[in-house]
This record gives sequence, structure tokens and C-alpha cells, in this order.
Amino acid sequence: MSYVEDPAPGHGSLPPRAAFVSDAPALSLNGTWRFRLSPAVAAAPAGVERDDFDDSAWDELPVPSMWQLHGHGRPAYTNVQYPFPVDPPHVPSGNPTGDHRLRFDLPADWPAGPAVLRFDGIDSCGRIWLNGTELGVTKGSRLPSEFEVGPLLRPHGNVLVVRVHQWSAASYLEDQDMWWLSGIFRSVTLLARPDGGIGDYWVRADYDHTTGQGTVRVETGPDVVLDLPELGVTAHPAGVPLTLPVEPWSAESPRLYEGTLSTAAERVPVRIGFRTVSIEDGQLKVNGRPLLLRGVNRHEHDPHTGRAVSRETMLADVLLMKRHNVNAVRTSHYPPDPAFLELCDEYGLWVIDECDLETHGFGPLEWAGNPSSEPMWLEAYLDRIRRTVERDKNRPSVILWSLGNESHTGENLARMAEWVRHRDPTRPVHYEGDHECSYVDIHSRMYATHEDVERIGRREDDNSRRRDLPFIQCEYGHAMGNGPGGLLEYRELFERYPNCQGGFIWEWIDHGLADGGHFAYGGDFGETIHDGNFVIDGLVFPDRTPSPGLVEYAKIIEPVRIAADASGIRVSNHYDFVDTAHLKFGWVLEEEGIAVVQGVLDVPAVQSGQSTVVPLPSLPSTAGESWLTVSASLASATPWAPAGHVVGWGQLPVSAAPEAAPLPPRGPVFRTGGKLLLGAGEFDPLTGTLTTLGGHPVEGPRLDVWRATTDNDRGEFAGRPEADQWREAGLHRLQHRVITVDADGEELVVRTRVAPPAQPFGLFADYTWTAFADRLRLRLEVTPDGSWPCTLPRLGLTMAVPGTLGSAEWFGGGPGEAYPDSRQSVRIGRFSSSVDALQTPYVFPQENGNRTAVRWARLTAPDGTGLHIAGEPQFDFTARRWTAADLEAARHTDDLVPGELVHLTLDVAHHGLGSASCGPGVLPQYRLLPQKTAFTLWFRPLPADAD
Ligand code: GAL
Repeated sequence: MSYVEDPAPGHGSLPPRAAFVSDAPALSLNGTWRFRLSPAVAAAPAGVERDDFDDSAWDELPVPSMWQLHGHGRPAYTNVQYPFPVDPPHVPSGNPTGDHRLRFDLPADWPAGPAVLRFDGIDSCGRIWLNGTELGVTKGSRLPSEFEVGPLLRPHGNVLVVRVHQWSAASYLEDQDMWWLSGIFRSVTLLARPDGGIGDYWVRADYDHTTGQGTVRVETGPDVVLDLPELGVTAHPAGVPLTLPVEPWSAESPRLYEGTLSTAAERVPVRIGFRTVSIEDGQLKVNGRPLLLRGVNRHEHDPHTGRAVSRETMLADVLLMKRHNVNAVRTSHYPPDPAFLELCDEYGLWVIDECDLETHGFGPLEWAGNPSSEPMWLEAYLDRIRRTVERDKNRPSVILWSLGNESHTGENLARMAEWVRHRDPTRPVHYEGDHECSYVDIHSRMYATHEDVERIGRREDDNSRRRDLPFIQCEYGHAMGNGPGGLLEYRELFERYPNCQGGFIWEWIDHGLADGGHFAYGGDFGETIHDGNFVIDGLVFPDRTPSPGLVEYAKIIEPVRIAADASGIRVSNHYDFVDTAHLKFGWVLEEEGIAVVQGVLDVPAVQSGQSTVVPLPSLPSTAGESWLTVSASLASATPWAPAGHVVGWGQLPVSAAPEAAPLPPRGPVFRTGGKLLLGAGEFDPLTGTLTTLGGHPVEGPRLDVWRATTDNDRGEFAGRPEADQWREAGLHRLQHRVITVDADGEELVVRTRVAPPAQPFGLFADYTWTAFADRLRLRLEVTPDGSWPCTLPRLGLTMAVPGTLGSAEWFGGGPGEAYPDSRQSVRIGRFSSSVDALQTPYVFPQENGNRTAVRWARLTAPDGTGLHIAGEPQFDFTARRWTAADLEAARHTDDLVPGELVHLTLDVAHHGLGSASCGPGVLPQYRLLPQKTAFTLWFRPLPADAD
């Protein structure tokens, strides 16, 4: 059997060891290599390993990289299904094979003697030669392989050749939900290995929270000494345990002690974080305290380079996470570039380090032949977990080892767990697929409903092993498109039940690939089998712009919560470790969103898990609606955010809007020249619809219930998709029957029945228009007729105004979009935005941009003319340069072409978002059922700005 189809791990490499740098010479071999892609193994050129092989006609390719993103072959996306026949361990004979060649010289001072060639990641299988000698074969795409090369090196003209195959037997173990991309995608380094140097080390640094003492134990070679100058430790024999008072490491306070391990021949800088992970009383604890994991699942992704990510990109992720209150990362579903974990140590994030393993494509086959229980794969499973644990064992941020993802269950997984327990008893084992929890230490689920979490929290499980373990959701809150909704209710459960210790949103980033003017997803590269936009399900867009979902999550998981009522301001500390001394508390009173007075609150340091109440500042009385906003921000800069960065906030309504002034007399309805005139409005006498307002041509407003369906509306995980029910009911093509247009009195009363074709049910919509000086009041009454089969996407009005009205200002919820079950992150204030910037550019276009709890909104042209719309008391609105139908039809952001008009939705209610794209649907309290509803809006034309 060829090595490509051999289920065994690679061969020829050195035993796995920790990732580290030292003062021994190292040479990065990253850079420009020669490259040639062949369509099959058999088509690859012979003799590539020879020094004199002529590669001058080959292309150039940067290393690290993934070749499909450099014009060789094409990316392909599948989630669960294998893109090739399931015939393990065989792979297609059309197996794209990329030959990579690099000629390099050694630096003049390169020492003679042993040297190691390290590959941090090759996807999926590589055969390696140096100077004509074969070194071996790598498998385990996101795991390192090292080869001894000392005797083969020459000062000049070394020739390194790597033949990489897109498919190998190992592809059966690497069926993660992501793009299939290939190549040498992580660094290649040559490391001198001095005789008497440090081959490997393992610093275990425990912390005893009862004594405040840390204990360092270093497992390494002989004659190694430890220096920790900050702790006054010099030349301590590394193998001898050392106990001394220290500050512990936590994600909140990532205290690292810098030091060195050294021998006469080599010096290795180390950064030690003292912490002890334990499971006690059914809780996952660090340093004696239970954790609440406010996590995300992170894939490595860059829209231009795929899984070849730069250190800047890794740092950008860490900073964005920290700035959005995220405290934990699951490295789904493979060990990340080792530099990412160093950043987690440094900036403070709890990590579940997951092994590179997923066999999900056997799921649709009812797991027949699943490698997890086939003996021929055992060695590969063990090899993968060994390489994971050995590489990352020194990282204090890593608190759990995860065996992999979605590989069902089986003996091979149990054997991995057994190996981990034996090798590293200091970290518990996680694997979601062990449903019985027979070989894991944590009960983990994905996408459990709120009800299920509640049941687990109440310990109503009849499996006693599972019942007594800490519970986490390794994936929840599926962040596909607009959503997720329902995060607040998860938080409430996590906080209510001590064994429910939080979870990890699926997922961090949309894996869109930059392609012309948009981000591409599955199917965009002509794949015959693909899973569409299921790869676009992150909290940040592909370019790492935070989506509204991330802003919402940041608010839900804020570590300091501020609630106020007339009796005072309650500050609650939801950190797991630190007090609030690093925060300052500012307040501002705003009247109709305009600051009136502000100040600083004196809040004593609140301990973790505690709260305090401080008196309200004395506030002047205001004439308009006013709100007090109190925010907790960083008192001084941290490594991850500047001073003043807000970590939590709360709002208190201080005074309500004043009683409306007495209304001026009503204006009469005129009929003239075939039109109906009422105040600033002109109406069509036959349909009773508004055609002109203050001289601006308008269309509508008229009743509408449709929204461009979201990924969650179309989601199939919570029963019949809501979107299918709406479409079947015909809600996207309502017809409006005018029953009466009554213009005889002081009001214009238009009775209509609005209903989909072919259906007996509908909605009566009665519009009553009244003019008061320059204002028009519209009262809309909606009464369901017949028996409705489904919820409504939304309920309100649709209206079009001239495209010149391109600026919006409003007083109400903002600054971002909000929906009933995803609205914690909006505050009441005054906001402005261009109509263009009101759009959220979801990679797969869908309903977006709804502003909620709006008291009034103004849409204006550059000269100040426009429209003022006020709610009685509130409404929701969107404003976009295309219709909901255009939005629904679009497949990529650049399909949306601005038209002549600005289309408004002015709504009384929206259906929630839920997370049915992979999880529960909309919770009952956020479902929009047809019911009798009355809704009042005021329209006023705005004159041009006075010069
Ligand atoms: C899970 C899986 C993830 C992802 C998610 C849906 O089953 O572990 O990798 O596919 O579903 O987006």
C-alpha cells in the first residue's frame, strides 16, 4: 500500500516534543519556494528529490500557504460529507499533488552537528527529502513533524523537497467543517540542536489557593537549571520541585513569570503561569474557583490565505476576543498555530486545546466503518493526541485537552483518553462525542436547547456519571447570518446552575474567501458537492469586522453588570477571580440622547461574585425623555485595550417623555384634481394610499409582514423551518384589497383586507389618517381574519421615499441592529448614520439592520429636507436602498445594487431570530403570532435647513 493510503501515521519523524524557541541557531525556511501542481500522484514528475532536477519552469509559491488560494486548483467546502467516495483508506486517484522545492544556504556561522527540520503544518500528507535523501512522511495536517537532518546539511545549495498530497488516508480523520485546502500552511524551520542542549521540557506549575504557594516541577533532560529572577530563583536544578509564594495565572489576570531553562549548551526562555485545574463537587475549577466559560470556537481563517494565518491575525483575534469580554477559546477542531496559544497565555484566555480529529462524514452512513472503532486507525489516533499534548503541554492557558470533534465514539477515542490521563493527569479530558461520559471528565454537549440545559442544571439526568460532571456547551449559539437569538436565556441558566459552566459560541469567524467584490462560500468555486454558506457562521465577518452577534455576545457576557433603579445603582462583579478595582465608573444623563451632565461614580472595589449598591448621583430635572447611562471602563490601559475601554454598562430611565402638547385643530380632507389632500399628504382616492408627503413622492406606507429570511428562519434544526411555513402561507406576496376609502369626515379612513393568494386567512388593516397642522397621524389597526397557520416574520408598514433621503438620525435603541431576542447590546440614545451604513453586510444577504425602540427618526437629504417619523410611543425601522425581495434574492453582498428609492420598514413587532440554523428555534416569548394590534405613527415633512 502506498504511504498516501496507509492509515498509519507518518514515519521517519522524531518523537513529539514541546514547541519552543531557544538561543540555539534557527533558520526560517519560510519564503518563496518553487511549486508545481500535478493532477494526480501518478502525474507528478519523477526525480524531484534530486539536486539537479530542473525546477526553473515551475511556478513560485509563498510558504506557508495553501495552494488553492494562489491560483492552483480551487477551494472546496463541505461540512459533514466527504467530498470523495467513502472507501477507507482509499482516496481518489485524481489526488492533486503539489511539489515544493527550496534551495537554501546555511548562514556562515551555522554550527556543525545535529539539526532538526520542523514543519508546523502540512495539509494533508507530505513526503520530504533533503539533498536527495528521503526524511519521511508527515500526516496530521495541523500537527508538527520534525526530522533529524544534521548529517545531511551542507553549507550551500541545500535542496529541500516536499511533495504534498491533497488527499491521504488521513483525510478520513480530518473531516472538519471547513474549506478543503492544501499545502505547507505553517512555518518551516531548521533548528540547530546543540549537544547537551534541551531536547524537551515540561514545566508544571501548580498553584495552591489555600496557601498562595506555587510549585514548579520541570521534567526535562539532565543538568538543566531553572532561573526565575522575579522569584529570586537562580540556577535551581530543574528536576527538583520548588515551592514558593507566587501570584497565580488566570485568564483574567494572566501573570507569567519569565525565566530560563539552561544547560551549558542551550538556553530556553520560559514563561510560567501557576494554576491548578481541578474537578471538584461537579465543577470545573481553576485555583479553587469554578469557571464560567464565556467562550468561542475558533477556526484559523484568513479571507486571503485560508488557514495560513499570520501572527498579526492571531493577535487580532485575541485582542478582539478580549475586547468583547470573551474569556475562553476552543481550538476547533485542531491545535492552532502554536503562536496562538502563547498569545492566550500572555493576554489571558482559557483554552480547550482540541486534537486534529474529525470523522463526521461517517455520520450519514450511521457510523458504519467509523475509524474511531477500527483497530487499523488506532495508531493514527494515538499519534495525533500525543503530538497535541506534547506540543502544547507548557501552556498555562490550556486547561482541557479535547480528543477531537464529531467522530462518534469508539475504542480508539477511549485509548486516547487513557493515554492523556497517564501522560498529563493535570488537565481533564473533553470530548463531546462520548455521550455516556465513560472516558471523559466533562459532560459536553452541542446546541442543547434551553430546556435541556435546564434539565442538566437540575441534575435530572438518569445517567449518574454524566449527572455529576461539570456541564459545558462546547458549541452553542450558532452565529450563522443574523443571530443568534436567545443568548440571554442561556446566560441565565449558566448562572442559575452551578454545574452549568458556560460554553463556546459556534463560531468565531465566517470562513468567507475574498473573491472579487465579495466573500465566497461553498459552491462558489464550482464544487460538485458542497454545503453552501454553512461555512459563514461566525461572530466576526471574514475581514474580522465584528458582527452584531459579537456585540450582543459581549453585552450578554459582560463581567460587570450595572442595574439601576430609583434606590441606587447596583454593580455586580461577574468575573471569576478579580475584583473591580481596575475599573472606573462613569455616568452620563442624556435628554433625548443629548448629554446634559456627566460625572464619575465612586464605587468601592467589588469582589468576584459580589455586588454593591451606590446612591444615584443627583440629577437635574429635564424636560424631555432622559436616561442615565452608567459604564464600567478600564481605569488604565491593559495589554489588550486602552484606558476607557468599556467592559459593562447599564441604563436607567430617569424621566419619561412629557405629556404631548394639546393637539392643534384637525385639518379637513379635500378632494381636488382627482386627488385626496389631507394636511401635508396627497392620497390616491381609489386606494387611499399616500402618494406625496410634503412634496416628496412616496409609496405606501402599507401593511407588510415579510422579511428577507435569515439563515435561522430557514434553519432546519428546530422543526419545520419558519421560512418554509411563511412562504407556503404566501406571506411574501400579500395582496391588498381595498374595502372602503372614507374621506367624508375629518379623517381619511381606509379599510383593507391583506391576504396571500390561494389562502382563506388574512389580516384586516384599517388605516386612519388625521392631519394636525404640518403633521399627519396614521393609526393602523390590524385584525387577523380566519385561522392562521404560522407566525409572522414582522408586522408593520413598508414605505418608499426618494433616494435623496440618505441620512438617518433617530432617538431610540442603537447604535446597532436589534431583534426581540438579540437586543441586550442596544441602549437608548440618539444616533445617526447614512442609510448605506445602516446595513449589516451579512456575507449571505438576509434581513438585517433593524433599529428598535425608536421614539422618532428623521430621514433627510443633504439640504435638510426630508421626513420626521415619530412613534406613539415607539417603532422599529429599517431603511435600505433595495427591497426585501431584492435582499431575499441576493446571494452575495455585491448582488445588492442601490435603486432610486429608500425603502423603509416601520414596524410594531418582529419575530425573534433564534438559532435554528443549528440549534433551537425562537423561544416562545419571542414568537410573533398574528393578533389584534394597533399602532400609531406620526409623519412630518422637514423643510430645508435654514441657511
Ligand atoms: C457542529 C460541528 C461544527 C460545525 C457546527 C455547525 O456539529 O462540530 O464543526 O459544523 O456543527 O456549524
